[in-house]
Amino acid sequence: MKKIKVTVLFGGQSSEHEVSRISAQCVLENIDKERFDIRMVGITKTGEWLEYKGDISLIGSGEWEKVARQQLIDKAGLGSGLLNAPPSCVDLVSFKDAEDRNIGVDVVFPVLHGPNGEDGSVQGLLQLADVPYVGCNILASAAGMDKEFSKLVFQNAGIPQASYIKVMRNEIKGSMPFLINRVSEKLGWPCFVKPANAGSSVGVSKVKGPQELEAALLLAAKYDGKILIEEFVRGKEIECAVLGNENPIASTVGEIVPCNDFYDYNAKYIDGKSETIIPADLPSHTVEQVQDYSVRAFKALGCSGLSRVDFFVSEEGKIILNEINTMPGFTSISMYSKLWEASGIPYPELITRLIDLAFEKYEQNTRSYERD
Ligand SMILES: Nc1ncnc2c1ncn2[C@@H]1O[C@H](COP(=O)(O)OP(=O)(O)O)[C@@H](O)[C@H]1O
Ligand SMILES: [Mg+2]
Repeated sequence: MKKIKVTVLFGGQSSEHEVSRISAQCVLENIDKERFDIRMVGITKTGEWLEYKGDISLIGSGEWEKVARQQLIDKAGLGSGLLNAPPSCVDLVSFKDAEDRNIGVDVVFPVLHGPNGEDGSVQGLLQLADVPYVGCNILASAAGMDKEFSKLVFQNAGIPQASYIKVMRNEIKGSMPFLINRVSEKLGWPCFVKPANAGSSVGVSKVKGPQELEAALLLAAKYDGKILIEEFVRGKEIECAVLGNENPIASTVGEIVPCNDFYDYNAKYIDGKSETIIPADLPSHTVEQVQDYSVRAFKALGCSGLSRVDFFVSEEGKIILNEINTMPGFTSISMYSKLWEASGIPYPELITRLIDLAFEKYEQNTRSYERD
């Protein structure tokens, strides 16, 4: 059987660059090498696209970059399909049709989190380059990344969410008394402040009272020009994984028990003390409702391939959707893979399924295009 050529993209120009490297290393360690031929392309924090031919274990730590640069220097001619900054559609097309067919690509797995990767930008490049790719299309990626747009879509789909106020970066100075009043009236204290487009809890604050609001808004404004102030929701943090294209399925659900006051960056990646409980200790009707909302959210946004949908579940059993992640963390200890493992799909098989779904989506899109 001819091997399928998979290009794994990792890194990226986002505050989640490091997380992406760890996710990608794990994908590369677990992908079925009998079925797939792997090509690795890392995107540096400055936006260079570097092909990497070294040891997979150097990706997570970031050491890959030095090796890739050396490989670039060693290779006198650059006309080999190697991508150079800034990435362009032309680069991607040549990356597909390069003279040296061995470095061609059948499918791309963009293991990229956050802006410039999970937000439709890279998906747009891949779409124009006419290459099948794992995960959501441009629109679902962009809308899923933007917490305001996704809220509007989920609201329309009848899924309960936290109340919020939107603030633009340029509105912060000068309107603090007004904003404090609005929060007191509409949301109450504490509240949560978050950039509309970010991830990994970067720029997210729990604001205990009016005196902390401005600093939290200014912090969030470092990451995005649009900021959301949200009502505080007390409850368990519950996550559900979704897999599929037109007929997506939901996994069993899991609970995150953060080791800090909330699930901030440290609790996620640094302290290593947060816990996951799979399956979550919830009544079956609550689990079914979470699964139903997850599939509904996935379909409402027009997702394909994968997504992880995150909720809060209160003690009274009230379910509130928090957010969707169209390219969730993908390490072997990440919730997405663990939820599928617990639902009967081991990690290597999950990767194979995602690649199969990428081809299925590509074929469906091509067919509908030809029909027109
Ligand atoms: N409205 C809220 N009520 C309670 N906790 C929240 C709320 N919003 C966010 N959090 C906490 O902050 C964390 C990060 O916020 P989230 O919206 O998931 O952003 P990110 O996309 O960065 O993960 C959540 O996992 C949760 O612990
Ligand atoms: Mg989150």
